[in-house]
Amino acid sequence: MNWSNTQDKLLRERARQVIPGGMYGHLSTSLLPADYPQYFQRGEGARLWDYDGNEYIDYLCAYGPNLLGYRHPEIEAAVLAQLAQGDVLTGPSAVMIEAAELFVSLVSHAEWAMFCKNGTDATTMAMVIARAHTDRRVILAAQNAYHGADPWCVPAAFSKGTLPEDRASIVYYDYNDEESLAAAFDEHRGQVAAVFATPFRHDTFVDQEDPNQAYAQAARRLCDEHGALLVVDDVRAGFRLARDCSWSTLNVEPDLSCWGKCFANGHPISAVLGAEHLRKAASSIFTTGSFWFAAAPMAAAVATLKIIRDSDYLERIVAVSQQLRTGLAEQAGTHGFGLKQTGPAQMPLMLFEDDADFRIAYAWMTEAVKRGVYLHPYHNMFLSAAHTEQDIVKTLEVTDAAFEAVKKRIDSLPPAWA
Ligand SMILES: Cc1ncc(COP(=O)(O)O)c(C=O)c1O
Repeated sequence: MNWSNTQDKLLRERARQVIPGGMYGHLSTSLLPADYPQYFQRGEGARLWDYDGNEYIDYLCAYGPNLLGYRHPEIEAAVLAQLAQGDVLTGPSAVMIEAAELFVSLVSHAEWAMFCKNGTDATTMAMVIARAHTDRRVILAAQNAYHGADPWCVPAAFSKGTLPEDRASIVYYDYNDEESLAAAFDEHRGQVAAVFATPFRHDTFVDQEDPNQAYAQAARRLCDEHGALLVVDDVRAGFRLARDCSWSTLNVEPDLSCWGKCFANGHPISAVLGAEHLRKAASSIFTTGSFWFAAAPMAAAVATLKIIRDSDYLERIVAVSQQLRTGLAEQAGTHGFGLKQTGPAQMPLMLFEDDADFRIAYAWMTEAVKRGVYLHPYHNMFLSAAHTEQDIVKTLEVTDAAFEAVKKRIDSLPPAWA
């Protein structure tokens, strides 16, 4: 193990001079173990390289965008071809229409698409369309669910600089709890514009939860009974559970769905997709951005959506994900660790039993990172179609050594945030 992070430390030092806090947002390593690299020089397939030349098998996939492999040749070629024609122009290119046609052909509830840049743009746009359609103000969202970083949805713990008024019309219910959703509707009778739901419960720091069918069906039924819209926020999980909206697996069709992260394999673009009856409301709002109609990310979306439609990418992701899950479960058992792997195997969260202060998770994952496997101790991870069986074998060798190393010093581990 000849891992070092000298260059990364120097970069962090430089950054501290010119970037507030050195780094901000979800890619900041401020809560991660101290040795985790902050900066990355390069990505290829399922691998990342930091500035110290360390190579990692990456289980974060840029927090989702990498679906098919970093620098996927077909997608990069489509982007370069479009860049040679133009990117940000005075109007959109025809490729926007092709991207919308393809997207709508894949997602069964959708008849139209509107593109934007980040997931937060998409969730905010869905909220505005729902309010425009219903002429109501209240949005029901699950307690602690992440829908982005705008003032209306930024998690309370990070809400410095926002106003209570920004969230005054957001009402929280408990995920997977039909009764709590029904109660929220009752309390705000005639005022609910939309229910927001993530495909499964993927909050940070706590075990993930699959959606139960009764909750998903109740969400649909209650929306219909109360004249509200159902919005599935597929920004994080989109196309990792299905080649359709994620709740298609539960036979529940939303009115609107929000997409981002991975449908252009990491190129910057997000989208709201909607059912026919919302076309009028969607065209009545004013929403835009200087870079929203850039053609190169649209070309990346077209190339990615074609691969999603035509290849076995999803089955391959699921297969390697199961291989990892099974291997880790066996290993943890052998070494005597209570490893909890929750959520879909292709978006796993890994926490430990009896690890309230995350000391085991931090120690184990630091050992893995220093051996070339990048894991996350409190956020769900992501696998891609570029992960191979050999990557999983190599990963399991590393995690085995990491369990062994942690076992030796289990009685002297410091808490994660000492
Ligand atoms: C479910 C969900 N919605 C919305 C967002 C916001 O997306 P973005 O960070 O691209 O604005 C995220 C980001 O992680 C997300 O996971």
